[in-house]
Amino acid sequence: MAARSKSGESKKSDSGSKVEGNGGKGGSESGKTAAINAVDLLIEDHNRVRQLFKDFEAAKDGEKQRRVAEVIFLELELHTKVEEEFFYPALRRKATEDEMRKLLDESLEEHHVADTIIEELKAMRTSNPRYEAKMTVLRENIEHHADEEEEDMLPDARRILADEAEEMGAQMQARKEELKPHQRPDM
Ligand SMILES: [Fe+2]
Ligand SMILES: [Fe+2]
Repeated sequence: MAARSKSGESKKSDSGSKVEGNGGKGGSESGKTAAINAVDLLIEDHNRVRQLFKDFEAAKDGEKQRRVAEVIFLELELHTKVEEEFFYPALRRKATEDEMRKLLDESLEEHHVADTIIEELKAMRTSNPRYEAKMTVLRENIEHHADEEEEDMLPDARRILADEAEEMGAQMQARKEELKPHQRPDM
């Protein structure tokens, strides 16, 4: 077996093992290809969600609330997914202090709480008297979590991940695009 021809093994055109954003040609519609540091990407997400919660609060009727809520849920799902797939594991591997590991464990638990609240909200109508209260609890939970990440985790992460943060940002961006539903919720 293994009759390896000498024609060389150079061609690996389509091994597809890397998510790297197709080198440019062929115009990706979404256009957002500017490189972004993973830490900055996460902070941008946090700020977008903070604004969305304000939009929810300002919504005048149940229909608008529902549409904003759907965007919030999607944003949070994509965000926590890439944190859990890329960011947290890399930090856990590279962190030398127990403090960081504890913070990561706590973060995963906070994601879990948020997931649970989101599932409950998805199963409710906005006319349910408990809907807004539950949304407030989600908001408080997320704001606390995002603040804590920004204060206690991300500054160290920037240092720990160093150069890797650029490549990871690109991977996370690509993964988010991949996970987005074709039919995006529209506010
Ligand atoms: Fe998080
Ligand atoms: Fe986060």
